[in-house]
Amino acid sequence: MDIEQEECELINQAMIQTRCNLLGIPKQNKTQKEQSRTTENIYSHEPFEQQSSQPEHIQQQLQLMEECFTSLLESTVPDEILCRDQEKVLITRFIEEGIKNNGQKQALYISGVPGIGKTATVLEVKNQLLSKKLNFDFIYFNAMNVSTPEDIYPFLYEKITNKKETSKIKSCILLTELFNNHSNMIQQNKVILLDECDNLYTTDQQVLYNLVDWPQQPSARLTVLMIANTMDFPERLKPKLQSRLGNHRIVFKPYNSTQIESILQQRMKTKKIKQLFASNTLNYLGKKIATISTDIRKTLSVCRTAILLAKEQLQKQNILSQIEVDHIKLAYDKIYNKPQHNALQYFNDELKLLLIMIALEIHVKGYNYAYFHQVIQRLNQQKQLKNQQTLTYNQTKYILIKLAQLNLIEIKEGQLILTKTNWQQKLQNSLDKDRLFNLDDILIQLKINIDDIKNGLSNDDLFKEFSNLF
Ligand SMILES: Nc1ncnc2c1ncn2[C@@H]1O[C@H](COP(=O)(O)OP(=O)(O)OP(=O)(O)O)[C@@H](O)[C@H]1O
Ligand SMILES: [Mg+2]
Repeated sequence: MDIEQEECELINQAMIQTRCNLLGIPKQNKTQKEQSRTTENIYSHEPFEQQSSQPEHIQQQLQLMEECFTSLLESTVPDEILCRDQEKVLITRFIEEGIKNNGQKQALYISGVPGIGKTATVLEVKNQLLSKKLNFDFIYFNAMNVSTPEDIYPFLYEKITNKKETSKIKSCILLTELFNNHSNMIQQNKVILLDECDNLYTTDQQVLYNLVDWPQQPSARLTVLMIANTMDFPERLKPKLQSRLGNHRIVFKPYNSTQIESILQQRMKTKKIKQLFASNTLNYLGKKIATISTDIRKTLSVCRTAILLAKEQLQKQNILSQIEVDHIKLAYDKIYNKPQHNALQYFNDELKLLLIMIALEIHVKGYNYAYFHQVIQRLNQQKQLKNQQTLTYNQTKYILIKLAQLNLIEIKEGQLILTKTNWQQKLQNSLDKDRLFNLDDILIQLKINIDDIKNGLSNDDLFKEFSNLF
């Protein structure tokens, strides 16, 4: 085994452990999800040092900046989650009914892209219901924080019974007995929020099955809410699971630029804080970010970085200035405009088109990867629409290899990462034997964020044709 193969072997072994499913269930890769998160941890401890030698008006301005910075941290919970009134009504009704009827037999499935307030909205509804003295225990479980889906059993067992049981199998059995038992051992209604629930997927789907089956049991008193990013996750489950899950669905739509702007305004509570920003700055920010990503975390991150840049300027030059569009542009570039992303626009059209098609396939399907043959199908549909000659597998091979060499994609056969040599060989064998169906299990995984592709190609004419599909 040469070094490259050995490396692949190691990566493959690690991947197997992640339970990433081959058959197309959108297993959210932890590191990828974390990448989409922002720079809060880096900046949250940045000191806004004030020196007594500084003029008082500068000290005041610095203090305002610090207040504003803190209000824009993700960890600062806003008084109210804006623009989600309809969703709140539906979630409130679902939980209230559950409590009134001693449980909801079917779960509520909530979906939507990252950073648009799904978790925050459910938590706000829960707090409001608890403050109305509605009697229930709330249990929050984030499936991304555990190493195996079965970890949910001991966790739930302890939350429900206040007893510890370390064995996963035993706690599952005990929970099943508890919910099946007719002696009404569970006195209090439980509302369970299963966040990032696609991470509970296992090949036999047993964990998810239990979680939708238990609420149907006579003594359960459970109301289950599930959150994930992909809309069609339930459709990918086995029919017996789908029927138990039911059809209660809420799809959170991304925020538009006006909504992003009002969310920022709301966080900057006082008039003084709002005046830190020049009047058109937040509007620009909403519009700029909305074209790239609707993730509020990213907007907050750009805003915080702009404050830090303005702070540096204030300290260096002792000049009082507002935060202007230029600060936002600079902050935005600092976080998102990496030279390698800007280089995308200089690729030739074939390379760009294939990259866009891969990104589109991944975005539309909600997986972490695209099937090779589906990407080719998508690509050739585009070519046909433009009356251009469709690409052969052989031509595509060269473009794909180029993208892999540029470290923008990874080509895999199932869970195995293919090296350049064995991928070329596989494709060549297929072409020689005219057995292209062999390529059905070839997957392409992006090694660059979709947002970075959108950003890098935002001024590109070819990309503009597709930008509204993202
Ligand atoms: N409408 C809103 N008003 C104020 N803050 C918001 C709003 N929507 C989202 N946020 C803030 O954005 C951040 C992300 O929100 P949240 O965690 O609810 O996103 P999510 O949709 O659950 O994302 P993910 O799918 O990544 O878990 C939080 O800090 C939240 O307070
Ligand atoms: Mg969430």
